[in-house]
Amino acid sequence: MKKVRILGIESSCDETSISVVEKSTSGKIKILSNIVKSQLNVHENFGGVVPELAARAHSEVIDKLILMALKKAKIKFKNLNAVAATSGPGLLGGLLVGVIAAKTLSSVLGIPFIAINHLEGHALSVHLEKKIEYPYLLLLVSGGHTEFTIINKFNNYKRIGTTLDDALGEAFDKTARLLNLGYPGGPEIEKIAKDGNENKFKLPKPLIHEKNCHFSFSGLKSSIAQTVHKNKINLKFKKDMAASFQKTIVDILSIKTEKAIEIFKKTTRRKSRATIVIAGGVAANQYLRASLKKLEKNNDCEFFFPSIKLCTDNGAMIALAGLERYERKLFNKLTFKPRPRWPLDKKAEFMKGKRTIGI
Ligand code: KG4
Ligand code: ZN
Repeated sequence: MKKVRILGIESSCDETSISVVEKSTSGKIKILSNIVKSQLNVHENFGGVVPELAARAHSEVIDKLILMALKKAKIKFKNLNAVAATSGPGLLGGLLVGVIAAKTLSSVLGIPFIAINHLEGHALSVHLEKKIEYPYLLLLVSGGHTEFTIINKFNNYKRIGTTLDDALGEAFDKTARLLNLGYPGGPEIEKIAKDGNENKFKLPKPLIHEKNCHFSFSGLKSSIAQTVHKNKINLKFKKDMAASFQKTIVDILSIKTEKAIEIFKKTTRRKSRATIVIAGGVAANQYLRASLKKLEKNNDCEFFFPSIKLCTDNGAMIALAGLERYERKLFNKLTFKPRPRWPLDKKAEFMKGKRTIGI
């Protein structure tokens, strides 16, 4: 087996990340470097990601980060076999910065350009740390996505559940904004929820009685907004609301995850234990991790949480997806256009805006 080194570029949202991943002659996969530059300071005053500012911030640092990633990996441009870049879904300006950098390197170095679906990166990232067998169930919970997808094998993905409106990270961020907490909201909510009364406020759990594993979070935000208007916003209120919100979210996730496991087992005709991988920024939430872990006993399943650095957006997962594609010669032309909307499961129906599923 020949040694393979792939450069991975991630710039779909508010992190610029460049990584070099290597597959050794023995087949071992190793992250040689994984540099992540967050744009938190760019967006914090706006309470959310501002697309134009994100694109500018990516373009300011991308060249430097590519050089840093090579230096950290102790390799030169000529040691790269291919360059892979997130080409969607995501914010177009940011995608363009990463894709153009990758295409430029590809044409100058004479190596393949590989367009990566960001969600495929999240779906495969677990293999950077652990040997797990296909098929497994992915629950992706980030600022832009919330979905259950069956990862049958490489390049064979079936989405079985998604959000009809806000992504889970978005729900955390919007709730944090209503409570005048910092950005991003997820970590802030988790922090102050620790000393709050999680049973203080009863919040809606949309779609909970439906037999599918779809989500809807926008009603929660409206309900919290109404409660905020009716109450005095002191620290006690914030703590209790954050705790109640977090508990409601985890209740919803637990019920829907049990449904998803059932569907996963039926679809894959799996008799043995099901493996569930939780990825995305919200998977950093310790309360969520501990609560989902409790489902293992009654559902004959095992949860796996990639380390936080690989849960959130990173170039290593893009380089890894690039490696898988490189080995199968799945290259892309330099005319490939970034795709702001790009479902991982091509057959998955577009669900945003649907009010109810009714099954
Ligand atoms: O995966 P990610 O880094 O970026 C993408 O959206 O792709 O996810 C960011 C999201 C934000 O909405 C943030 O508030 C949320 O993940 N998040 C958390 C926590 N840490 C980050 N949500 C809940 N609890 C956390 N500890
Ligand atoms: Zn992501």
